[in-house]
Amino acid sequence: MSYSKKVLDHFQCPRNVGELEDANGIGMVGNAKCGDIMQMFIKVNDDGIIEDVSFKTFGCGAAVATSSMATEMIKGKTIDEALKLTNSAVVEALEGLPPAKVHCSVLAEEAVKLAIEDYKKKKEEL
Ligand code: FES
Repeated sequence: MSYSKKVLDHFQCPRNVGELEDANGIGMVGNAKCGDIMQMFIKVNDDGIIEDVSFKTFGCGAAVATSSMATEMIKGKTIDEALKLTNSAVVEALEGLPPAKVHCSVLAEEAVKLAIEDYKKKKEEL
């Protein structure tokens, strides 16, 4: 099993790590099989643009790399654009993942979607 340079780069120097204090959408997902957990924080402005995003992952290296890449891919995008982010697009941007690790990228896609759902729900409650 080998990892692309991009995966190693995002694993060793993950982008946008930590909690966003002024996040208005938070998504948390876990994978029951491996027990890994990922949290995604987004800050959406009044124009529906994701101004800032960060993540926290208690999980494997591929989960760290895919969440890091996913944050870069949705930053500055509208929530509608971000909803279209697929795990395969993240894998492609990372120049591939070993097949046994593709499920890790699914966590990133789901965490982004849940964070956006959370944002929409909170907005309706206002
Ligand atoms: Fe579970 Fe990677 S092994 S997220």
